[in-house]
Amino acid sequence: MSTTFSPAERQASNTNLALPIYLDNHATTAVDPRVLDEMLPYFSEHFGNAASRNHSFGWAADEAVTRARSRIATLIGASPQEIVFTSGATESDNLAIKGVAESYRSKGNHIITAVTEHKAVLDSCHRLEQYGFRVSYLSVRQDGLVDLEAFERALDEKTILVTIMAANNETGTVQAIADIARRCRERGIIFHTDAAQAVGKIPLSVQEQNIDLLSICGHKLYAPKGVGALYVRSGINLAAQIDGGGHEHGMRSGTLNVPGIVGLGKACDICREGMPQESARISALRNRLRDKILDSLDGVSLNGSTDHRLPGNLNMSFAGVQGEELLTALDDIAVSSGAACTSAHIEPSYVLKALGISDELAQASLRFGIGRFNTEAEVDYVAGRVIETLKQLRELG
Ligand SMILES: Cc1ncc(COP(=O)(O)O)c(C=O)c1O
Repeated sequence: MSTTFSPAERQASNTNLALPIYLDNHATTAVDPRVLDEMLPYFSEHFGNAASRNHSFGWAADEAVTRARSRIATLIGASPQEIVFTSGATESDNLAIKGVAESYRSKGNHIITAVTEHKAVLDSCHRLEQYGFRVSYLSVRQDGLVDLEAFERALDEKTILVTIMAANNETGTVQAIADIARRCRERGIIFHTDAAQAVGKIPLSVQEQNIDLLSICGHKLYAPKGVGALYVRSGINLAAQIDGGGHEHGMRSGTLNVPGIVGLGKACDICREGMPQESARISALRNRLRDKILDSLDGVSLNGSTDHRLPGNLNMSFAGVQGEELLTALDDIAVSSGAACTSAHIEPSYVLKALGISDELAQASLRFGIGRFNTEAEVDYVAGRVIETLKQLRELG
């Protein structure tokens, strides 16, 4: 049997690239080996419950949790006691939004968010609408940024909470959260940000940026899945959404996931130390991929903001092809498309549609998420494969 290799495939075999190539770091990241190393003892010799006060097993676990709390707080400019551990950003978003709604109901029943938020935010808001809250879903500009004038118009005397994400998971668009948060602070409105994609990637400071609540996700910053945190500014009263033993100042009961928390702490430390160099390296890789594709192909559009963007994000639409056939042909590259499979059919991404992109183009979009472990050789391979695949599909189609 004779096999023919495309130029990109030949290049992969010449450079010993391991396929498939993972370029989906917005979906999740690999656990950093340094993170795993710190976690491992907390599965074995230090297996204690951090809430056990009477013996050294508990004390060792509690010490590890305390250290992690302070590492996470340092990354975002918070105090350790303002960090509440959760199972991830979905839970943090739910706790922030529903917790504020329940606690501050007597002050008002109006919430502001944006149409491009993650479902963890949107569906929490939808749930609250069933309980009598009013929610304003702000539309966004073509570059994905919230229109600040529309935001100002949406505010009213019943607004208790504004929740706007720090960076979008599809387009990488980085919102002007400091500006929005300042306007909230001036009016005594609580500001929450879902920073699942932003923490550890871009500088954030809850103090300098006037953030009251901030959701963190472990598995987007090289810590494991199933761990996250919510920053809760001291003085903010959140109604617990999970009741029980009163852990985490009563805001989130349940035995702490000590190994996961240790991992999250270490991951935050690594991100803090390496952020300037890492973001420069990753954005250079992203620009390299973007430029190679744009230089070789027509009919390619960039989605999201050029200036306000996560370093590792590239989101592109390709005219003249179908999204599904594109992904099928790129079977040696792990990326995401601008479409999501629901039970019955393929739906174009609501985020891309909100930017004014047609259904057809949204479906023919790819999200590349470049991360810590990607190399220049991988990016070159992916660029080559995308270019040759697009040319082939367009010739056929
Ligand atoms: C912006 C954003 N918010 C929330 C989540 C949910 O995070 P988790 O998987 O930790 O529940 C994600 C992950 O996809 C995300 O990208």
